[in-house]
Amino acid sequence: MLLTLPDILNTEELHQARQALDDAPWTDGRESAGTQAREVKNNQQLPHDSEAAQAIRALVLRGLDRSPRFFSAVLPLKVFTPRVNRYRGDSNAYGNHIDNAVRVLQGGQRVRTDVSCTVFLNDPADYDGGELVVTDTYGEHRIKLPAGHAVIYPGTSLHQVSPVTRGERLACFFWVQSLVRSDEHRRLLFDLDMNLLALRQRHGETPETTALTGTYHNLLRLWSDT
Ligand code: NI
Repeated sequence: MLLTLPDILNTEELHQARQALDDAPWTDGRESAGTQAREVKNNQQLPHDSEAAQAIRALVLRGLDRSPRFFSAVLPLKVFTPRVNRYRGDSNAYGNHIDNAVRVLQGGQRVRTDVSCTVFLNDPADYDGGELVVTDTYGEHRIKLPAGHAVIYPGTSLHQVSPVTRGERLACFFWVQSLVRSDEHRRLLFDLDMNLLALRQRHGETPETTALTGTYHNLLRLWSDT
């Protein structure tokens, strides 16, 4: 399931994020790429322990915490440390690849990359190109969102960032291990949850919404691993 989540960061938070990037210590993005990805990755990123990365990570995680849609769609169990990246000049693209299935946190804990998330940190008018192109069973999606908006897509998808030919593209991205490993299962749970929400808004609580909420939780119990 590919889903956009508007307004994960507000104007003030975007301002803070971009202030944090003044004089930030950008490094070559290839440092954290797997063998295949290294061949096609050509961008810049911030070291995990840099002040700028820490500040932006905190803003992004707080923003996602406020989003019930993010929670419902992703059902997060573990989050891999969000990274901040930049595409511009000679470091302007990331060719087609599939992300490594498992990432290791600094403490040694493993995170299976079920869901990928990108939060756009600057405006699409600031740059040409730089679309996130995700290929799945329904074809190719070209994603370029306003600053502060996010997109989530399954970690199993082939994807790339097309070359930035003017200006710079700033984003924060990370992976989540979901309670529910299967994208199909997550999709069913998300649809059920969203429609239950709409039913409640229209009719209030009814015996049917109560029963279907039970069904939601019983499916979650069936499909989740903790
Ligand atoms: Ni990737």
